[in-house]
Amino acid sequence: MVSDTDIKSGKSPIIKVNDICFSWSSEATVLNSCSLQVPRGEFWMLLGNNGSGKSTLLRLLAGLLIPDSGSIVMPYKTGFVFQNPDHQLVMPTVGADIAFGLVSENLSIVQVKQRVREALDAVNLLDLERRPIHALSGGQKQRIAIAGAIARNCEAILFDEPTALLDPDTQLELVAQVRNLVKQRGLTALWVTHRLEELDYCDGAFLLEGGKVVAQGEPQVLKEKLLASEKQ
Ligand SMILES: Nc1ncnc2c1ncn2[C@@H]1O[C@H](COP(=O)(O)OP(=O)(O)OP(=O)(O)O)[C@@H](O)[C@H]1O
Ligand SMILES: [Mg+2]
Repeated sequence: MVSDTDIKSGKSPIIKVNDICFSWSSEATVLNSCSLQVPRGEFWMLLGNNGSGKSTLLRLLAGLLIPDSGSIVMPYKTGFVFQNPDHQLVMPTVGADIAFGLVSENLSIVQVKQRVREALDAVNLLDLERRPIHALSGGQKQRIAIAGAIARNCEAILFDEPTALLDPDTQLELVAQVRNLVKQRGLTALWVTHRLEELDYCDGAFLLEGGKVVAQGEPQVLKEKLLASEKQ
């Protein structure tokens, strides 16, 4: 198990996964004594082969699934950005979609408006407040999903391959923007990806294999290790 002091930056972890096990069925274990910790205010990535359990782990962190054993500590307010934004933007316009995420907070109309505008400003899309969702590009949709989490004052955001459907330029713009948001706003982000070039933007990375984290830390070290294994 990783102890709090193992984290190089010395920052306290805000996401803590301790020895979790999870199986979808009795035949196959997906996560087997999996542990990781993400320090507050940092941008970490999670890599692993197809089927290694990355999305399952993110769903456990989001509270959408319950582990068979082990424990998970997450901030009270955590956002989730999916691979396909069409699976999470539900209202007809940008402003209405972000406001919809605030329904449970019993805010006044003025407060909702303020939160929506501030969140859109954070992702540089204030001018799209009235735009219908169907008239957005894929990258804009992902930034609206991120604005939704910012409007809810989420401390942490989980990203499950948010760039998988984006072209290379938009992909790198999004990852750079998330890095800036993490650093400017003190957010914590855990980002699943297969794209090794994205590792250049994060503070640290985990490699999931055989149901557990088998390597973690310096992104460039992990990148070289994965590039070397791709060549074999
Ligand atoms: N809803 C489900 N019901 C049953 N088994 C599932 C379900 N979702 C995932 N699995 C299985 O759990 C294992 C891990 O899947 P998961 O989607 O977490 O992997 P992943 O690392 O996210 O893969 P990818 O890189 O392809 O997205 C796989 O064997 C998969 O078939
Ligand atoms: Mg997945």
